[in-house]
Amino acid sequence: MISRRALSSLRRAPLARGLSSRASTILHALDIHSETELEGVYDGDWTGSGEILESVCPTTGEVLARVKSATPAEVERALERSREAYKVLRTVPAPKRGEILRQIREALSAKRDDLGALISLEMGKIRTEGEGEVQEFVDIADYGVGLSRMMNGRVVSSERPGHSILEVPNPLGVVAVLSAFNFPVAVYGWNLALSLAAGNATLWKPAPSTPLCSIAVTKIVSSVLEKNGVPGAAAGLVTGGKAVGEAVVGSSDVDMVSFTGSEAVGREVGKVVQGRFGKVLLELGGNNAAVVMPDADLNMAVPAVFFGAVGTAGQRCTSTRRLYLQSSIVQKFLSRLEGLYQSVRPGDPLDRSTLLGPLHTRAAVNIYHDAVDHLLKTGAEILTGGAPYKDLPAPLNGGNFVMPTIAIPQEVNVKDRVWSTETFAPVLTVGVFDELEQAIEWNNGVPQGLSSSLWTRDIRNVGKWIGPAGSDAGIVNVNVGTSGAEIGAAFGGNKSTGWGRESGGDAWKQYVRWSACTLNFSDEAPLAQGVQFSNTA
Ligand code: UN1
Repeated sequence: MISRRALSSLRRAPLARGLSSRASTILHALDIHSETELEGVYDGDWTGSGEILESVCPTTGEVLARVKSATPAEVERALERSREAYKVLRTVPAPKRGEILRQIREALSAKRDDLGALISLEMGKIRTEGEGEVQEFVDIADYGVGLSRMMNGRVVSSERPGHSILEVPNPLGVVAVLSAFNFPVAVYGWNLALSLAAGNATLWKPAPSTPLCSIAVTKIVSSVLEKNGVPGAAAGLVTGGKAVGEAVVGSSDVDMVSFTGSEAVGREVGKVVQGRFGKVLLELGGNNAAVVMPDADLNMAVPAVFFGAVGTAGQRCTSTRRLYLQSSIVQKFLSRLEGLYQSVRPGDPLDRSTLLGPLHTRAAVNIYHDAVDHLLKTGAEILTGGAPYKDLPAPLNGGNFVMPTIAIPQEVNVKDRVWSTETFAPVLTVGVFDELEQAIEWNNGVPQGLSSSLWTRDIRNVGKWIGPAGSDAGIVNVNVGTSGAEIGAAFGGNKSTGWGRESGGDAWKQYVRWSACTLNFSDEAPLAQGVQFSNTA
């Protein structure tokens, strides 16, 4: 008689065909064996018996793996185990947590090339950007190690004799991280590093289309945790779609939700978490502008706009989507930019010479089409691009490749969807201004407020741009493009971008609960503000 175990392994659907060697080399280097369905839940143990997620390579259309996501009961259990892990972690001194983070940093760094390649394979960004993304995780882990010895509270002077007031940071509990497909590793890293240093357990719900990146990272992180005697559930994972996301966001067992994604979903997440008085950190849409003044150094500005708009195939929150050129340099700037656009060839993101990879999904190709159609309908001039690539050689013909597009709409009306909507694809719209004030008004006139960039050599323009009447975005650069921020400063945006701050700066302060502790060392118990409350007076 066939054993139950053998039966269940027979039932496991193998992938329809063998994996390409392009994919299998990368997956095997990270100990991912996708010949059978993978388990997409980690709560100290690997499980997963929910709906199947397919990881599809955006470059070729190949199914890389089938992943068993979390059932509602598995989400529940993962939350319980996260809470238990938090109870262990909060008693570990912060510098010891920092030491664990240092080991995580080392383990990630040792796998930087393999993980970078996996990001290219599964998300579609080019190799140098995939590796750069892992580097961003390594950098924030370094930052978290330092932070683990510097998460200081304060001692505040008391108005009462013999009293002292302490502002004390303590761990928060369980932090859920809902990350987007476009940075399938780094955004989790920003959160994990701060959350772990602060003494929280973290539960990760990655984008449903990048489960392999999350499984690979979780394996690396959990092996370090376990080696240090910390329960693996201190860095848990629940893969899944909308239902899993909703279960995590709605759970009162989650103390803080850090969400990266669209404005539409972020609005719902914000309401749900606020509705249960949880903490929420939102990183939503971008729609970022670059403003170029006549005195700008075009040798710097043109390549920076090119990278900002075409890098990552326009799929960063920080991608440059709007370009405002001062009227006297329009022709010069655009002819140089067009030259760069025309030199770019689509290719396999794993190939080191490729600058342009695919869009992440078929749905994104439709969004691209839709944006281009609307531009055409409203009379915009398409300078270059405007269509998907046709007749690419196999296997790229199975991928989601679109031409980077530059469009000049008839007018700048920031209320029109051409300007006010973030299109997550390489579509750059250009407007022409005479005075900087006009460009700043356009920069600020959209709902989003993530990143912005001014190109000038004139200090007076810089003063305006970074001051109270300047750019209202969370990132306000000068002679630096809109994308590619370092981890040291707080990262995030204002207005419909959600006001959240992650990564450096004071972002860590959100990952703790603050207590004001008034201590009385005296033999009297006076009330504050001189209030008397005694009937003997
Ligand atoms: C994102 O697009 O969600 O500044 C994050 C950048 C990167 C992070 C982007 N460091 O472009």
